[in-house]
Amino acid sequence: MSIRRLVSDRRNFLQTTAGLATCACLSQPAIAHEATPRSATVASGKRGVVATVHPLASRAAIEAFERGGNAIDAAVAASLMLSVVDGHNSGIGGGCLALVHTAKGDLFAIDGRERAPMKATPEMFFRDGKPDPTLSQVGPLAAGVPGLIAALDQLSTRWGKIGWKESLLGASIVAKNGFQIDVNYARNLRESVNELGKFPESKRILLDAAVMPPVAGNLLKQTDLSATLSNIAIHGATWFYAGGFAEKLDRFMRDSGGLMVADDLAAFKTVDRMPIKTNYRGHQVIGFPPPSSGGVHLAQMLGMLSQFDVKAIFANSPARGLHLLLEVMKRAMADRAYWLGDSDFVDVPLGLLDPEYLRQRASDIDLEKALPVTSHGQPPNADTSLFGRQKHTTHLTTADREGNVVAITQTVNTSFGCKMIVPGTGVILNNEMDDFSIAPGVRNAFGLLGSAANAVAPGKRPLSSMSPTIVLNDAGKPTLSCGVAGGPKIITTVLQLLVRTLDLGQSIDSAIAAERVHHQWSPDQAICENAVPENVAQALRDRGHSVSRIRSGAVAQGVAIAADGTLTAASDPRVPSSALGIE
Ligand code: DON
Repeated sequence: MSIRRLVSDRRNFLQTTAGLATCACLSQPAIAHEATPRSATVASGKRGVVATVHPLASRAAIEAFERGGNAIDAAVAASLMLSVVDGHNSGIGGGCLALVHTAKGDLFAIDGRERAPMKATPEMFFRDGKPDPTLSQVGPLAAGVPGLIAALDQLSTRWGKIGWKESLLGASIVAKNGFQIDVNYARNLRESVNELGKFPESKRILLDAAVMPPVAGNLLKQTDLSATLSNIAIHGATWFYAGGFAEKLDRFMRDSGGLMVADDLAAFKTVDRMPIKTNYRGHQVIGFPPPSSGGVHLAQMLGMLSQFDVKAIFANSPARGLHLLLEVMKRAMADRAYWLGDSDFVDVPLGLLDPEYLRQRASDIDLEKALPVTSHGQPPNADTSLFGRQKHTTHLTTADREGNVVAITQTVNTSFGCKMIVPGTGVILNNEMDDFSIAPGVRNAFGLLGSAANAVAPGKRPLSSMSPTIVLNDAGKPTLSCGVAGGPKIITTVLQLLVRTLDLGQSIDSAIAAERVHHQWSPDQAICENAVPENVAQALRDRGHSVSRIRSGAVAQGVAIAADGTLTAASDPRVPSSALGIE
């Protein structure tokens, strides 16, 4: 597609949206809530640490360390266990973005994001001439080709020390024997019960005989999933992509009206992307490039914040500090809506990160007044200098004493993905197709708008907000790793973690626990957690923000690495979660 054509298509998408008054944003899929005030779960360890949302997943990581594994093996073990015990958030029917810092000092961004099936078309979510978001959110069309297993296989093979077989078998045993579902799992089951009940296999495995959701403390056994994990342990990832699983998925899709076929699985490949490196106040912040929007917009927001003495502004007035963050979020998210999509398919300009462009983008920020951001910016060389073309979610992070650090955000998108389980496999399929812009002016489940850059195309990856992030010091040593679950709030939450740790000098656990704000440009709303004090929220209103409240925002995990090598993991108190270490 020519650049000119693409730019005009992008504009058409957003022009159509300009008149939209309604907003789906505040009905974004709910994140589980814990009462505030709160403090993060913290653990330290000399040999290794891990932070995840589930004690069994963190335990699996520690067992991988005990078997002689490194942070990569530990991350793979935790990820696989999350597929079993936290399947509403992520699993082997979904995808992930994984950022790796190796002991040798190399950085890798492994893209295991789902892809659209080859039969996908821009019209696939239209019925009777109208876009229908229920089709991209529930049922067989909503699923993209899963990427998690391919990514974990890559991680384990390239940088692990102990292979992934034991970890697969460990997850398989928990799936077979069952585990007690936690309050978070139970709530997500309750909220999805009607949709899960429509699909026989989901109903059979996840609901009880009276089609009611099990409650917290009940045992959930997943014998089919157990067999799937054992088969991968025995036969390798090929069993998933070109063997027994592929056959079952193909049959299921043909029977249920989906577009994905065995060839889509056989063709799936992870992609090695080039991490985005941003210098921020003497630190190097490493982010994930497209098809994530996270790395680009973190770099943009940090570039804009570099124009300000953030520490002094927060010290003088927390409300002014939060206002500044909201103003940079707005500008970055306006660019997201227009410019971002899978860089293998559309042109994403490198100029979005140009320091002069960011200076200019930040130049009208008024510390006393919220200014409307009417549209995206115009980065330099938008048609020639481009990102390389090779060519309900959870985050986990691990680190070890050798210097390996892993940050993986993995997801099936909203709770229980498309709500369908592939018969005979126990695998919950994602609904990642909803992360595409299915039609001009149609918001996705997270209230996000997009342009033609993020339209559906065969084999294309939907734009993601997932932002696994690693920070290096001026000597190139890792000091921090973090990431978040929560749709577009992922990007703005990572920003706040970076500002709190790098600018305000807070510990990773304090930064994770602290109250947060969010702005995604459209709708023009400053979303504040209830924990943001009312006088601060009022000060934001006084500056012209339209403030809306949420009980609690996105869910973060982080690791800090001190100069003496001490490793500290911290887990978000907003959901049940687990940080563990090993001496
Ligand atoms: O990739 C994305 O941006 C979304 N699929 C992430 C979804 C998510 O974080 C759901 N979390 N609560």
